[in-house]
Amino acid sequence: MTSTAKLEYRTLAESQLDVICIENQYCEAIIAKQGAQILQYRLKSSNGRPDKTLLWLSQHLPQQGQKAIRGGIPLCFPWFGAHPVQPNLPAHGFARTEIWTLEHIQAEAHQHNLTFSLQSDEHTKTNWNHDFQLKMTIHCGEDLSLTLSVHNTGITPFTFSFAWHSYFAVSDIHDTQILGLENTAYIDQLHQQNPHRQTEPSLSFSAETDRIYYQTQGHYCIQDPLQQIKIDSPDCPDAVVWNPWANKAARLADMQDHAWLGFVCLESGQIHTPVQLPAQHNVNFHMHITADLL
Ligand code: BG6
Repeated sequence: MTSTAKLEYRTLAESQLDVICIENQYCEAIIAKQGAQILQYRLKSSNGRPDKTLLWLSQHLPQQGQKAIRGGIPLCFPWFGAHPVQPNLPAHGFARTEIWTLEHIQAEAHQHNLTFSLQSDEHTKTNWNHDFQLKMTIHCGEDLSLTLSVHNTGITPFTFSFAWHSYFAVSDIHDTQILGLENTAYIDQLHQQNPHRQTEPSLSFSAETDRIYYQTQGHYCIQDPLQQIKIDSPDCPDAVVWNPWANKAARLADMQDHAWLGFVCLESGQIHTPVQLPAQHNVNFHMHITADLL
């Protein structure tokens, strides 16, 4: 077991993605400067418990700055899905394809905290004509937590939506359930956009699933026969559950065969009613993830 914190800057060979590789007493993680996106988080084995890879990551990585990286925890900002009035703008906003600045690192034997920032410039204004600064802190220790701070640095208010589009690794999507969405309203993005309400205590999977749940409690548990992953994001009112299943996965160029069996996206954010942020104000959101092997 490592008693000191390790940190290394690397550029991945084919994709040229700039990443930060860290290791401490509890975990190993890889974080890309593109999108301030955590790509890999592996809890080390301890007390007879085997190691555990928490996040799913596609083997097909894009060239840095060109396209979104599929896997880990991308940030959708400042809109979710297609832009509401300009469908030619990038799906899920631009934060996930921008190169963020690594501002601060705190490295200790039992944890790393990395803070990244992204601020408006001429380029971001071609997509979204507002002055802003984002800060994202990624805490990697015995648990994984993310904090997002959105600051309106301009002189007019703006609205935005966002989601942490987390790809969680599961043993098999057929054996996976999500708890925490009982009695919660949702929009089924695959069928009529009418609101539905989940009455079942848990959600299981037998087909493509793409739902936006709103006014959730912000506490979820992903269970499969080997593990449970708890996600707490109480200041994020909405959650998205997504798995493309076989047919849609086959149409996604960056998803290898059968990869859809090995993940579920449980995304925390604010989508249904966008956030209104007055000039010179800021707002913070948190997500906390823990994993237990069964
Ligand atoms: C989910 C959406 O959040 O992301 C889906 O609800 C979408 O509709 C999926 O297909 C993947 O989006 P993308 O842009 O990363 O391929």
